[in-house]
Amino acid sequence: MRRFGIALLGMGMTLTTPALAEGDATAGERGFKKCKSCHMIVSDAGDTIVKGGRTGPNLYGVVGRQAGSLDGFRYGKSLIAAGEAGLSWDEEQFVTYVQDPRAYLRDYLSDSKAKSKMSFKLRKADDAADIWAYLTSVSADS
Ligand code: HEC
Repeated sequence: MRRFGIALLGMGMTLTTPALAEGDATAGERGFKKCKSCHMIVSDAGDTIVKGGRTGPNLYGVVGRQAGSLDGFRYGKSLIAAGEAGLSWDEEQFVTYVQDPRAYLRDYLSDSKAKSKMSFKLRKADDAADIWAYLTSVSADS
């Protein structure tokens, strides 16, 4: 997260966009409770960081990952299409997506029929930014 903050400072646009305010990884760890019924966090080495469900893809390493690209997970067509069209997860895309995945995909693909297999919506951008900070922190070292 530090590096990201510094990059924004460099561009002279820090803290003006609420969705890009630096997240709090500790709060994000608590917030991840809302995600773990469907998402686990298991490192590439196989270490379980958060035991979770299999309805959604493993969120380990989601930072910078092409959307819909984790091997072995059966994504919906729309998310795969978005990834193929160039979507990869950074903070801004992630924060917008988790607030309303279906609306996000409809917008991203300019397709009013796009569908999401993730039905959950996280209402607050700040909570999403915290979870992003947490996911970044657990993916950093390994
Ligand atoms: C009810 C189950 C469910 C919950 C709860 C849920 N998700 Fe998801 N999530 C999914 C499914 C299913 C997908 C795959 C979507 C698709 O293929 O369209 C997904 C996909 C994603 C993706 C895209 C990953 C990729 O590999 O492209 C992200 C990011 C994500 N979820 C984050 C979250 C976060 C953060 C939370 C908690 C705030 C959360 N999800 C809660 C089911 C869920």
